Amino acid sequence: MPDHTATPTPTPAETPPETPANVTLVQHPLVRHKLSLMRDATCPTNSFRHLLREITLFLGYEAMRDLPLEDRPVATPMETAQMPVLTGKKLCFVSILRAGDGLMGAMLELVPSARVGHVGLVRDDTTLQPTEYLFKVPKDLEQRRVYVLDPMLATGNSAAHAITRLKAAGAKDLRFVCLLAAPQGVETLGRAHPDVEIVTAALDRDLDDRGYILPGLGDAGDRLYGTK
Ligand code: URA
Repeated sequence: MPDHTATPTPTPAETPPETPANVTLVQHPLVRHKLSLMRDATCPTNSFRHLLREITLFLGYEAMRDLPLEDRPVATPMETAQMPVLTGKKLCFVSILRAGDGLMGAMLELVPSARVGHVGLVRDDTTLQPTEYLFKVPKDLEQRRVYVLDPMLATGNSAAHAITRLKAAGAKDLRFVCLLAAPQGVETLGRAHPDVEIVTAALDRDLDDRGYILPGLGDAGDRLYGTK
């Protein structure tokens, strides 16, 4: 149990680390506020899930800010005019199970036509290395922009593994979307895959010796699904 009588550690916002070049930090006040609510250990499961959906809409919005557009004629009730619509590569959202599924619904609300992939990984509690039990992705990954979803970028081992596998399956254009990132995760993923932009709502301080993010929010899967 955390010691709630101890002096709180500074929030990430009070001690912003230098944002690494491969990271896009989404710092909208609504995101920061909602994330603080999620971090609270007393936040109930239904609120946690709802807040994750809301924050993911902001993260997805930012992660997709450079989607290409082309002009097409659109007949308004008044006249026909050239208007921008999405063009270029189709999208694929890949969830790292199980917590990544907490981001999937909101991403699909933003782009309902995206394809969906799953990478199932379990983390060994001692080595903190992932073991894969599922890899199911669309066949045409090389023609899609791929967004990999996992709320927690902790050691970075799972993220790096998933992206290595996705590249081997053909993916060439990838982004990683998470809620919280630890410095170790950013470093590991950046070293393994410097081409992959990390979009996150916060850069936290550290990891504990079990690989949990500090100050973090605990086990995202347990908080999301009410398992504990
Ligand atoms: N996974 C989680 O769910 N939480 C952490 O803090 C780290 C990894």
